[in-house]
Amino acid sequence: MSTLDNTSLNLPKENLEAEDFLPLLGTDYIELYVGNAKQAAHYYMTAWGFQPLAYAGLETGLKDRVSYVLQQNKIKLVLTSPLNSGGEINKHIDAHGDGVKAIALWVDDASKSYAETTKRGAESYLEPKTVKDEGGEVVLSGIHTYGETVHVFVERKNYKGVFMPGYRAWNPYYKPTDVGLKFVDHIVGNVGWNEMNKWCEFYAKVMGFAQLVSFDDKDISTEYTALMSKVMSNGNGRIKFPINEPADGRKKSQIEEYIDFYNGSGVQHMALATDNIIETVTALRERGIEFLTVPSSYYEDVLDRVGEIDEDLEPLSELGILIDRDEEGYLLQIFTKPILDRPTMFIEIIQRKGAKSFGKGNFKALFEAIEREQESRGTL
Ligand SMILES: [Fe+2]
Repeated sequence: MSTLDNTSLNLPKENLEAEDFLPLLGTDYIELYVGNAKQAAHYYMTAWGFQPLAYAGLETGLKDRVSYVLQQNKIKLVLTSPLNSGGEINKHIDAHGDGVKAIALWVDDASKSYAETTKRGAESYLEPKTVKDEGGEVVLSGIHTYGETVHVFVERKNYKGVFMPGYRAWNPYYKPTDVGLKFVDHIVGNVGWNEMNKWCEFYAKVMGFAQLVSFDDKDISTEYTALMSKVMSNGNGRIKFPINEPADGRKKSQIEEYIDFYNGSGVQHMALATDNIIETVTALRERGIEFLTVPSSYYEDVLDRVGEIDEDLEPLSELGILIDRDEEGYLLQIFTKPILDRPTMFIEIIQRKGAKSFGKGNFKALFEAIEREQESRGTL
């Protein structure tokens, strides 16, 4: 059942500058605090093809919250809602709307991860604790990052159960087919004015990450709006966290719109990888997911910019999939409109064909598409 493997302990080093005091094996799960976890779970299953995995709530002895765990290949989402009023989860939802609370990282030693990061200045969220059931034991610990977001370190090498102690298997009749999403490629944080460097330094100092790339407001600007971005990654490259901050432009940056509606820093988007973006996006569109579109003129000269690609241009253009190339290959990507009522979080679908970058060549077309959406919301 588990898609986790133990072969990644000796991964080749992708980011040579990164330090190794905090070996991260991958993203374990992403937990969202949401207003109605039962209905959110239905959405992520029906629209996004996630499969039911585990459940915790009143029936498992919880009194104050309920969590549904969904899985698609290596991606796990935990959707958590409060069962009563006034608590910590309620306050999070009141402040931010639905949003990502925890980016959980899969580690070999959660106690050591906690010790190494707090020693370097991370603020404690959860002291190491061991949870047990008949499937074995999981050790959890956690630290704070930007805004009210946290990282939970998950050590599950001595666990054979379905998700973790406290949860029971969730096996409803309803299981829509998946859409071919494979793993979390990167998770992007939006932070406030002039805070990008502070948070990049946090990932460098506290977690040993190093900077992969940096984009300034010259790279990421249109006639009207701008932002700045740096990408931090761990040593084996499995964890990539771009950090964005708003930059001055003639109109309001999309990052500023996010910060206004999220009421602070938080996760802007998660990029989910597929092996076949045409099939994945076709399925998602049929299930009601709405994507940003670029003008058809984008496709008139895109091949001059990116060179030869394996795919036919026609389905890419029909679906609105963007293309970019770097020294190592190319990538295909597309972005949804915000998936929540507040214009905060969205999801990127990405297929890498050698490229390790983030689609810099698409920034302008993409941000112009976002500006059209901002315009319609009156937030540009
Ligand atoms: Fe992205």
